[in-house]
Amino acid sequence: MSEFAEDFDAIDTVKVYNSSKPSGLEAQQSQVIKDVLKRYKSANGELYGSLLDVGCGPGNITRILATSFEDSIGVDISESQISQARNAESPHRITFKVGAAESLPVADGTIDVVTAVFALHFIECDKFVVECKRVLKPGGIAIFFVGVLSKVQAPGKDTRPDTVPLVNEMNYKLSELAKTLKHPERHVLGCYEALYNDMKWPGKRLIETEIKNVSSLVDISRYYLSVPFYRRLGTTMENPVIEFVESVKRLWSMEDTIEKNIEVRACYRAVTIVLLK
Ligand SMILES: C[S@@+](CC[C@H](N)C(=O)[O-])C[C@H]1O[C@@H](n2cnc3c(N)ncnc32)[C@H](O)[C@@H]1O
Repeated sequence: MSEFAEDFDAIDTVKVYNSSKPSGLEAQQSQVIKDVLKRYKSANGELYGSLLDVGCGPGNITRILATSFEDSIGVDISESQISQARNAESPHRITFKVGAAESLPVADGTIDVVTAVFALHFIECDKFVVECKRVLKPGGIAIFFVGVLSKVQAPGKDTRPDTVPLVNEMNYKLSELAKTLKHPERHVLGCYEALYNDMKWPGKRLIETEIKNVSSLVDISRYYLSVPFYRRLGTTMENPVIEFVESVKRLWSMEDTIEKNIEVRACYRAVTIVLLK
């Protein structure tokens, strides 16, 4: 269990994190998971059986995924996150529980699908994988999702200069900072490659796709800065996220336009690790 996981328990973090994802992004992230699921597992009838979403945070993604399941459980180590999750209305059958991924509060062989969205990097993977094996039914599946910004474009026909080098530079600087601080965010920035390589599960798979989300430049920086690691880096140009926003504005000769008014199509590299029992 990572010491940095505790950052997610602070009440202000819960509130900021819960309200900062660009519009529609959680639905798109959930859709990637649903598509992977469809590829490997057919539902008996219209719905899948049981879902266990580990590191569920405020439960927004759990609620979207739950529309495809008869029963769902969201588990998170943070009491604050779970109380936020319980506060929101859940039209589907969902139970939220405080618990650790390394010793899941769920009986053996009772779950059809385990998910972990942006959570694997905080978890002790060896123990979690053993837990997944224990709680999954035979034929069950575990899906771990992560995504990283790969470029921003102008929506519609893109004639503006390419931002890929700027995104690469930001991601590189953030990775170096995460490595120096020994922060698990380095695994997010590496799209879980190292975690996947170390994972002991015969027949494991890694699937890569892309998400495109239209928002504004300010939405992207707000999203980044809602995650405790990026908040730790401050709000000056020393923070590669702030520097990135300024450099995109410079590249596009939009220094005088406020970020809220700069509409962008953000492209995210989306990676899922799939374990079939
Ligand atoms: C980046 S948030 C992701 C939340 C949610 N899945 C989402 O995508 O919005 C990571 C979550 O993992 C939780 N977490 C960290 N370590 C955990 C552990 N060992 N077991 C269960 N949850 C954990 C944190 O409390 C936090 O809510």
